[in-house]
Amino acid sequence: MQKIILDCDPGMDDALAIIAGLADKNINILGITTVAGNVELTHTTQNTLNLLKYLDHDIDVYSGIDKPLLRDLNTATEFHGETGMGDIELPSSVKKISNEYAEFYLKYAKEFPQEIELVAVGPLTNIAGALIKYPKLKDLLKGITIMGGSLCGGNITPHAEFNIYVDPEAANIVFNSGLEIKMIGLDATMKGYFAANELEEIREFNSKYSKATMEIFDAMFRVRGKIGMTNVVFHDTIALISAVYKDPFKFQEKIILVETDEKRGETVEHFQGNKILVAVDFNKEWFKNYLIKILK
Ligand code: RIB
Ligand code: CA
Repeated sequence: MQKIILDCDPGMDDALAIIAGLADKNINILGITTVAGNVELTHTTQNTLNLLKYLDHDIDVYSGIDKPLLRDLNTATEFHGETGMGDIELPSSVKKISNEYAEFYLKYAKEFPQEIELVAVGPLTNIAGALIKYPKLKDLLKGITIMGGSLCGGNITPHAEFNIYVDPEAANIVFNSGLEIKMIGLDATMKGYFAANELEEIREFNSKYSKATMEIFDAMFRVRGKIGMTNVVFHDTIALISAVYKDPFKFQEKIILVETDEKRGETVEHFQGNKILVAVDFNKEWFKNYLIKILK
């Protein structure tokens, strides 16, 4: 089982990733940290706690940083609804949690040196903050997998993917940290899109994971239908599973810099800097079969 700490900003596709991570027996989620992104930190944190309660999993959760390192927070409520979970209202968790997320990373990284993959599927604020506070994390983590970036145009501006756009300075810190970085950007994740009727086989299943997945899947269409979207993309699930499964991905080594000026958040290839692994393709058929297998 691959040990993973997941940093996320639920957000409905983040929630789908948490469900897959809990359902997949090859993934061992040691803990979850929350960051401001799709919605405010209070919502991303409560959404995480409510989902874990709903799925009856008692996993460590720590809240992180409530705004980008240098900039004001830009949320994505048009895609996720005001609370971040569309029109879904899960029973509310009353669990009290700590915000000492960087200490949580350090504790586990020391306990399991070079074994833990940090998977970040929101803005990279928490990751950059932890690397600044505890540089030795660079030597203790196995690597960092991020959902973010794009070499094929943006989804929040013509140039930028949302997670990198929200905190481009944090992204530059992470990309140039010297850690083994995998960038699972839109070049890969946009292959993992589904129309509303494409997962009917999963709707017939009876597991708590399949039911939660389809409830969120349907809510995504209700919210995004209002802005004319006819597909949903499992961005964060695709990033999460890349920490375990290599077959459906095609990677290329590249040096990536993040624009911080008028093309804020654009991830561009460069000739100087740390090489990282960039996912340049992804197999949607493999992914659909994967979801059917783990959610049964
Ligand atoms: O661009 C897609 C990414 O931005 C996903 O992680 C989604 O949850 C949003 O955070
Ligand atoms: Ca996310």
